[in-house]
Amino acid sequence: MVLVGWGGPVESACVNSYFQELGRTVFDRWKQANFSLEVFPAIARAALDERPPCEHVSLDELVRDFLLNDEQPHQTQSGFGEPELVTYECPRFYIQVLFWLDGTTDIHQHEFSGAFHVMAGSSIHAGFAFENMQPITPHFRVGDLRLQQIELLETGRTVPITSGSGGIHSLFHLDKPSVTVVVRTQNDPGTAPQFTYLPPHVALDPVYCDALIMRRKQALDVLEQTGDPDYARLIREMIDQHDLEAGFYILQNGMRHLMDLDEWEPALETFQNKHGASAAGMVASMVECQRRDHIRDMRGAITDPDHRFFLALLMNAPSRSSLLELVAQRFPGDDPVDTVMAWIEELAEPYDSGTAAMDLLVPDDLDAFLAELRQMLAPGGVPRAARIPAKKIRETRTLIEGSCLRRLLDY
Ligand SMILES: [Fe+2]
Repeated sequence: MVLVGWGGPVESACVNSYFQELGRTVFDRWKQANFSLEVFPAIARAALDERPPCEHVSLDELVRDFLLNDEQPHQTQSGFGEPELVTYECPRFYIQVLFWLDGTTDIHQHEFSGAFHVMAGSSIHAGFAFENMQPITPHFRVGDLRLQQIELLETGRTVPITSGSGGIHSLFHLDKPSVTVVVRTQNDPGTAPQFTYLPPHVALDPVYCDALIMRRKQALDVLEQTGDPDYARLIREMIDQHDLEAGFYILQNGMRHLMDLDEWEPALETFQNKHGASAAGMVASMVECQRRDHIRDMRGAITDPDHRFFLALLMNAPSRSSLLELVAQRFPGDDPVDTVMAWIEELAEPYDSGTAAMDLLVPDDLDAFLAELRQMLAPGGVPRAARIPAKKIRETRTLIEGSCLRRLLDY
């Protein structure tokens, strides 16, 4: 194959030559800037944009080369990507190709900087700021996570990566596979840990492990699995006795089982009595985590890119209006309410005594539910004579509030 190099055409026997050239170019330009961390994202981004991998690298050849050619850079043990292939490495930075099948990223920040390029597929990219931050421990923080921007990244887009809390983001990959090329530093001093954010109020270090808390959660799981009658009482005693961070992890771990036992509210009350206002925000994060986990689970079974786009918006859009705006951007000319209604209908499946609309079990006729939802989304579009009574709308609203469709209710 022939690759066109920065300094002229380069004859190449394998696809790795592209990444060798990319790596050398980035290295030379960064050296000119005395390896300043501040300029690395701009250098990485410019190099990726000048000869974008999406136009210059064949995915088939990349995989074939990786499988058959023994001259490969050192591979990491990282669990990031599905999988991560390292295609260039030097002591100061490396280049990785990340495949994404069913996974998606948490909201996170990095202890490295650089740039990523969408080589194949597309993704919803959301950027956040963590305001009013208060450290509880070096590994656990509370604050207010605010969405700053949400955008669709199509194949060919390159985005700079900033280390630390200035680069909080998440990606929801729409196509299977989505492939990104990342040019990144090894580690930027002073920017660890790589916090994961649980919206709306919690940040935690996902790598840090307090072994005692971990074992206590596992011991509680034994009590759960064996149906121990003291499970809920012990959790309340633990919350009352231990610190805020430990209480959060104990409650988060037991949330589903406590709800099944109808013991969630008393456990929450104990937590809030012990820790006051800080506890309220943490509980909101636990509830939101459950909603996001549910959407993530559904994502594994849904492969249509438009349906995945809808899931990404349900997970990340901060309000109904922003969700509809993003649908209108992606499908200009179509009424976004019509598009959303069509997706909900396409994703509906029959169950024992009704229809499941996503994770919402519709007790009545699906058409009646869709008409009620349409009236909620676009009340002006329904003629007065055909309007459904407010009492029925309120009942349906309560149903939706307990499902992943809840975002459709937020103005
Ligand atoms: Fe990231």
